[in-house]
Amino acid sequence: MNKAYNIIDHNYDVVVIGAGGSGLRSTLGLAESGLNVACISKVFPTRSHTVAAQGGIGAALGNMGEDNWKWHMFDTVKGSDWLGDQDAIEYLCSKAPEAIEDLEEYGMPFSRTEEGKIYQRPFGGHLTSNGEGPPAMRACAAADRTGHALLHTLYQQSLKNSVEFFIEYYVLDLLIDDDGTCKGVIAWCLEDGTLHRFLSHQTIIATGGYGRAYFSSTSAHICTGDGSAMALRQGLPLSDMEFIQFHPTGVYGAGVLITEGARGEGGYLTNSDGERFMERYAPNAKDLASRDVVSRAMTIEINENRGCGENSDHVLLHLEHINSNTIHKRLPGISETAKIFAGVDLTKDPIPVLPTVHYNMGGIPTNYRTEVLNPTTDNPDKICEGLMAVGEAACVSVHGANRLGTNSLIDLLVFGKASSITARKKTKPNSAKVNIHQRCTEEILNRFDLIRHNKGEIFSGEARNEMQKIMQKKCAVFRTEYLIKSGIKEFETVERKMENIQVKDQSLIFNTDLVETLELHNLMEQSKVTLYSALNRKESRGAHAREDYPERDDKNWLVHSLVWLDKKGNIKLDKKPVNLNTLTNHVQPIPPKRRVY
Ligand code: FUM
Repeated sequence: MNKAYNIIDHNYDVVVIGAGGSGLRSTLGLAESGLNVACISKVFPTRSHTVAAQGGIGAALGNMGEDNWKWHMFDTVKGSDWLGDQDAIEYLCSKAPEAIEDLEEYGMPFSRTEEGKIYQRPFGGHLTSNGEGPPAMRACAAADRTGHALLHTLYQQSLKNSVEFFIEYYVLDLLIDDDGTCKGVIAWCLEDGTLHRFLSHQTIIATGGYGRAYFSSTSAHICTGDGSAMALRQGLPLSDMEFIQFHPTGVYGAGVLITEGARGEGGYLTNSDGERFMERYAPNAKDLASRDVVSRAMTIEINENRGCGENSDHVLLHLEHINSNTIHKRLPGISETAKIFAGVDLTKDPIPVLPTVHYNMGGIPTNYRTEVLNPTTDNPDKICEGLMAVGEAACVSVHGANRLGTNSLIDLLVFGKASSITARKKTKPNSAKVNIHQRCTEEILNRFDLIRHNKGEIFSGEARNEMQKIMQKKCAVFRTEYLIKSGIKEFETVERKMENIQVKDQSLIFNTDLVETLELHNLMEQSKVTLYSALNRKESRGAHAREDYPERDDKNWLVHSLVWLDKKGNIKLDKKPVNLNTLTNHVQPIPPKRRVY
């Protein structure tokens, strides 16, 4: 045993890593079902990134106009550019109304209509009548602070159910035994420096995305995809990592999110000619086309010298024409954001905006029951026993090549709950203690020790900055083989620098230097597999726009990509079929066709 550390042992039926929306929904469901659950989070739960979600939660309630879950399913399949698995998408959309009912019962403070129903607004890519009708009013909103209301509701309910939280504990790695079963995690308590082994029958990864691999991102600084990197280090693959979502309306310069709900309430974009250019790119949906379409259109406008401002490098989002009552009632948060980050009073002037990294469609592959997949050539649906993943960390895959706005929050609710149902089916409350080979703990501690005591000359911030700039430039809205290959070359230089990083603070108490270095390792691993996955997919689909392969190629690429990273840093790539069949016969499969808005 590594003598440098004493380990404190804990035993639980289930351990959840992460206390954002997916982690809390999972935790709450587990506690309600009588399982003994620990929820571990590197930040205080209500500071998780879900708190920043603004516009709404997608569910076909039909409160403010005709809607049904099958239309929601159609839009989601089309939005995914047919890369989403249709069994999982059916599960998502059919369970969405129930997920909102649960929240209502938990006391979530939704905005309301005059009749007291939950307020719903339109969002990009959500239409009625299988894409043929007008925009659907589908995003269930709490003004433009939906994530804030959601996270507080789930946290309060978890406390009511006596969940045990381990707050400001940083999970180092997964404990995977010799037979490939996950048996828990090792975590470091940031407050007092102690190390803990959480042994459990089921481990649920709910650690969010890795938006901070990029220089300009709407994601919080904590979004370093820790769980996905842990899965990679244990020899598990990640799926569809090339698909990075750019949100059309990040505040120019700051990257902070201006909700798509702003366009849902009537906002629109213009170029330097004052033209509402989205009418040319998406004649029907216009400013409410899906995000990949709007982000590409904005980038083309800027590249063709129709950008605004001194450097012609952004476009403008107009809300000045909207009634100030509506702004006050429905968009109070972004009014503040525009003032603070762009110095704009949005009732008077337009907001300068630019596409900004917002979401990772890829992640840890799972089935719709949220079990983690460890596919082999003979069995693409093989499961990694004891391990589940939910939320942005996971790739179920309901978002395929492009996620629709509001489908992230509904994803984390539906699949957070699904994980608790699956865990309860697999585990009896207060099950016997779990045993694990000592070697697993040893390996994790040795890696931790190595990073902590590495002797080098540079600080992690320097390498992080370089990595973020490479990803921003070389793996952006538009990509080519030349661009990605030059990105990989530059990335290799940063990779070598990782061996030369020193952690100046050697203590174990609130050592942010060490936390940031560990997070940087996680970001580097995910950036690397992203670059190689982007190079590998020779077509354009959803958010992956290859200028050298401008067409979607269903013959060769209607497949999920899989990527592995071995201990020496070697990449292995493979493919996995997309499930084009539905879960039940309540709805027919939606065959691939050309995607226009
Ligand atoms: O624009 C937004 O409010 C973001 C929503 C989402 O990503 O789902």
